[in-house]
Amino acid sequence: MQWMPLRPGFGLAGRIDRTLSEQVDSRFPAGTDEFWMEQALIESMNSVGISSPNPGVGCVIVKNGRELARGFTQAWKQPHAERMAFGSLPSDVNLEGAEVFVTLEPCSHTGFQPPCSDLFPGRGIARIVVATGDPDPRVSGEGLRRLATSGIRVDAGVLEAEVRALLFPFIKTRGLKKTVWVAKWARMPSGHLADIDGNSKWITHSQSRAYTHWLRQKYDVLVVGARTFLLDRPAMTVRDCALPRQRQPERVVFDPKGELLKLSDSELEGFRVLVCRDRIPEAKRHGSVFVGMESDPDSPELGAVFKRTLESLPFQKPLQSVMVEGGARLLRTLARDGVFDAAHVFTGVQKFDRLSEREWLESGPGSGFRLCTHHVFGEDVLQEWVKED
Ligand SMILES: NC(=O)c1ccc[n+]([C@@H]2O[C@H](COP(=O)([O-])OP(=O)(O)OC[C@H]3O[C@@H](n4cnc5c(N)ncnc54)[C@H](OP(=O)(O)O)[C@@H]3O)[C@@H](O)[C@H]2O)c1
Repeated sequence: MQWMPLRPGFGLAGRIDRTLSEQVDSRFPAGTDEFWMEQALIESMNSVGISSPNPGVGCVIVKNGRELARGFTQAWKQPHAERMAFGSLPSDVNLEGAEVFVTLEPCSHTGFQPPCSDLFPGRGIARIVVATGDPDPRVSGEGLRRLATSGIRVDAGVLEAEVRALLFPFIKTRGLKKTVWVAKWARMPSGHLADIDGNSKWITHSQSRAYTHWLRQKYDVLVVGARTFLLDRPAMTVRDCALPRQRQPERVVFDPKGELLKLSDSELEGFRVLVCRDRIPEAKRHGSVFVGMESDPDSPELGAVFKRTLESLPFQKPLQSVMVEGGARLLRTLARDGVFDAAHVFTGVQKFDRLSEREWLESGPGSGFRLCTHHVFGEDVLQEWVKED
């Protein structure tokens, strides 16, 4: 599956300025298909963090160039975007000649909700425009076929690359039938992620950090390495970004040597810590914090064992995606095992003096990845990469 470069202003977090609390005008001339699809995309950003494992979809109903209704996918098992939009129309509305813009092909199967494609026929709707098809094998073209058969004109592919980017990781996880793993790091101009002394907690500026916080809502689980945890005590929460802030992700620390065993329960509250099993003393084996990995810290299999162990943990919802936020040692170990499917890489301008090879990483995830986003946040640059399937 090809991952196309995105238009300026869009990234894997959707329309970028929407993550920063900025009010900006549309990027497209009013009334065009791109304009309305952008509105549907913006609407769908309200689903991020709540609809998972369902895709966060947006829908806008338009007639004679005027918006009649919009909706976004609700929490898992609750109504989808199309049903929300139709449900908010006045009861006496006349939809003769209306057009419906939906970011994802309407579903055609009965899950926790009835099929959305059943909402359209027999109401006089002239056209439905979708950005991209649904890779779920229960839909996969069937939703569009049903609509076309009922006589509604169907147009597809409007803002497809941008919507697919926002629908990442859903699109990738459904297509590949696996949990999606994403790397995120911030580098100095020299390529270092940290200085030797651990003084370099912030490399990027507030806009980049706001984007990262917003992005965290997209992913089910966040991970950091033990050394990062000990030096930075990161909260790993969603805070300094635009509203709505929909969820706080689950948080995991990769700690093969058991360096966090010395910390108190209150310091580890809200975290699960994955440690090589032999390093966990009997007294800590049965609590909810420390989880054993069947590996040795020096094993070449460590990255793969960590991935397998994390994916087998019980979470509140089916696990779709994991974002690993560093440090360099953890990222290198997982990259070596080919764990990552995408990467968010910030380059800041902050420089520190005492640097070593250990903290250095390449400017991107390497061969096999396609650059989708290149965005400037003040002095920082964001690049986002997705692995070609
Ligand atoms: N710029 C950024 O994006 C960013 C993000 C996060 C953190 N940081 C900075 O990075 C620094 C910490 O990063 P780090 O790279 O030193 O450590 P890290 O990745 O945060 O932690 C990895 C931990 O796992 C241990 N480990 C043991 N065996 C390992 C193996 N085979 N592979 C990987 N790890 C193994 C490491 O022990 P050893 O110590 O013995 O290797 C270390 O305790 C901090 O200064 C933090 O501020 C920067």
